[in-house]
Amino acid sequence: MSRQHLVVLTGAGISAESGIPTFRGSDGLWEGHDIYQVASPEGWAADPKLVLDFYNMRREKVLEVAPNPGHHILAELEAHFHLDIITQNIDDLHERAGSTRIMHLHGEIRKARSTCNPDWVQDIEGPHLNWGEVCPEGSQLRPHIVWFGEAVPLIEPAAALVAAADVFVVVGTSLNVYPAAGLFQVARPEIPKYIIDPAVPEVTGVQNLTAIEEVGSRGLAQLRQLLLT
Ligand code: APR
Repeated sequence: MSRQHLVVLTGAGISAESGIPTFRGSDGLWEGHDIYQVASPEGWAADPKLVLDFYNMRREKVLEVAPNPGHHILAELEAHFHLDIITQNIDDLHERAGSTRIMHLHGEIRKARSTCNPDWVQDIEGPHLNWGEVCPEGSQLRPHIVWFGEAVPLIEPAAALVAAADVFVVVGTSLNVYPAAGLFQVARPEIPKYIIDPAVPEVTGVQNLTAIEEVGSRGLAQLRQLLLT
């Protein structure tokens, strides 16, 4: 028998136990900056060095921390399921935990992209991407991040995965940011769906939904138990 297709959407909450702060619920500022100053094309045009510094700081943090049991449980579940992770996170903690099928909807902080050719993407060695670092065509490199106001190129392949899922799980996202927040609506009504979050966001019009009101590590341990027994 072929294995069940488990699709998991993760958000900032799954990395909270690793020490990376979530975005919302505070004052709408990131490290004291208005989010549009550091995470929009307009912010980049106005002050690219500030944007590079901001992501350099966040990259330093990502390199300091490690995956937590929640990431590890998802990696282990690949032994039992055809498992795809769709993450809104730009950190690489799913990769470092050993998951192999990961779609980064909002980009990857450890990668840089050319400002003249969006198809040119390269790894960033170490924590910093600096002003003056250019692609082979001579254009400045920018963080490989989907900023506010930019299209989310992977949303269609992500929606196709969710539409084909046998089980859909959402972990640690406030479901505030579209189009990712709309993925619940794409899942087939009859499949089991789970949402794991210590403060479960309100979800309406979704059938067969079980809420597990827990942090990622404990919630995913419960889910493993539910799925494997
Ligand atoms: N385990 C699981 N979930 C947690 C934990 C935890 N330990 N701690 C907090 N949470 C939950 C919160 O209750 C909240 O519902 O994680 C969620 C985090 O929500 P947000 O901070 O809004 O993060 P996210 O939904 O990933 O944001 C989506 O918005 O700012 C943009 O591009 C950015 O990818 C991000 C997107």
